[in-house]
Amino acid sequence: MEANTERKPVIFSAIQPSGTITLGNYLGALKNWVSLQDEYDCIFSLADLHTITVRQEPAKFRKNTLEAYALLLACGIDPEKSIFFIQSHVSAHAELAWVLNCYTQFGELSRMTQFKDKAAKHADNVNAGLFAYPSLMAADILLYQADLVPVGADQKQHLELTRNIAERFNSAYSPTFTVPDGYIPKQGARVMSLQDPSRKMSKSDENANGYVALLDPPEVVMKKFKRAVTDSDACVKYAEGKDGVNNLMGIYACVTGKSYEEIEQEFQGRGYGDFKTAVGEAVVEHLRPIQERFQKYIADKAYLEQCYRNGAERAGRIAGRTLAKVMKKIGFLPAR
Ligand code: TRP
Repeated sequence: MEANTERKPVIFSAIQPSGTITLGNYLGALKNWVSLQDEYDCIFSLADLHTITVRQEPAKFRKNTLEAYALLLACGIDPEKSIFFIQSHVSAHAELAWVLNCYTQFGELSRMTQFKDKAAKHADNVNAGLFAYPSLMAADILLYQADLVPVGADQKQHLELTRNIAERFNSAYSPTFTVPDGYIPKQGARVMSLQDPSRKMSKSDENANGYVALLDPPEVVMKKFKRAVTDSDACVKYAEGKDGVNNLMGIYACVTGKSYEEIEQEFQGRGYGDFKTAVGEAVVEHLRPIQERFQKYIADKAYLEQCYRNGAERAGRIAGRTLAKVMKKIGFLPAR
């Protein structure tokens, strides 16, 4: 092993390229990824292998993946600073996932709450991939010897399982995998639905007014904020029981950098109408340069191709090293 003195901690994270990327994905995850790129060795991936646990229409899936790649670049993922690749382009993910499946118990996977939720939601397609989803996620993380993994609350259980799998493998053989920790961002926002602020903002919301897509045009963003659910006491103040207002304040704070006190002062004696308009306008201004960069990237297929090929090559070298170690320790007869 080379000395670890110069190495920055490694961060790995991934997002599925399944259609719409929302303001919730951006403020909750992507914006933080962007800010981690100087301090850490970051490896980011589009988890397209995970996406086929739900049936995809081929042309649409291809388009979604390319657009998600362009959109993440537009958000500020820098392919010079970080490794940014598409999961299915690095075959080691599928290979290590198979291996780790054999070190993961049926009982463990059965206890995953996301599996139980998704199985209930897609009762007509409870496939083995959906069940084994967490061991593929473990493979993603462990291939890069990641020290830290920024994940939302809904992925904590999967990260805990990843740690268990890593420790199990390490003690069955010898230290092979870095056991990753969760990374809790300093300024994290949990963005809730604009229509039902007790639920997380989600692209699978039946009501499209509940979420803002990063590529929604300005007038759509404004309309969605103007319709956002608030409460009846007409006071812009962060307080328990005011989920709708709290959510809007969180979003406004995130995109303007203002504190809650500053926001309360700004809107003292003013109604929710003014407040919602201000939040909408601030979001529109924040998204404007992202949308402009997206248009530029998506029009330049050659550049996108060059970026994701380069990402896959760099990721593949690191992943290949880990996979080779694993195969050797297990006792597979080397091909050469
Ligand atoms: N399962 C994650 C999600 O849906 C995406 C993901 C796949 C991921 N592999 C990962 C996140 C590895 C963190 C690390 O949000």
